[in-house]
Amino acid sequence: MTVVALGADHAGFALKQELKQRLVAEGHTVVDVGTHSTESVDYPDFAAAVARAVTSGEVQRGVLVCGTGIGMAIAANKVPGIRAAVCGDVETAKISRQHNDLNVLALAGRATAPEQAIAIVRAWLETSFDGGRHVQRLAKVTGLEEVAGAQPR
Ligand code: RB5
Repeated sequence: MTVVALGADHAGFALKQELKQRLVAEGHTVVDVGTHSTESVDYPDFAAAVARAVTSGEVQRGVLVCGTGIGMAIAANKVPGIRAAVCGDVETAKISRQHNDLNVLALAGRATAPEQAIAIVRAWLETSFDGGRHVQRLAKVTGLEEVAGAQPR
């Protein structure tokens, strides 16, 4: 079982609620950072909360939902140590773990049916990083991270 942070904007709120219910029922521990209604909000606020919960170690993984998943992934990837991407199918979600050690999954609330979303999240939570040749590639990705405000090297 996994400790998972969930976050969404107004466009992802409904799917986040579905995921929360399903994940808790399946025995996972969920930290819900919001949003808590369909009132319009800014997705980077929730991406930041989930990303920081992951990098601080408060949770093991993060799942973010907005209309497309794209804004959430862009924002979460600004936090050093985060590897976030949108996955719209189970196979991509599995490979994102095996090859990319994805620690934040972004979903398109306006394009992913609840049953598809839970299948994606379940597969993503159950799949491990392959390691091996992917370690050096991820080290190169980490090497691209720049500390906010620092001069490019
Ligand atoms: C909100 O309308 C929408 O822009 C947002 O949910 C997301 O899709 C951004 O990437």
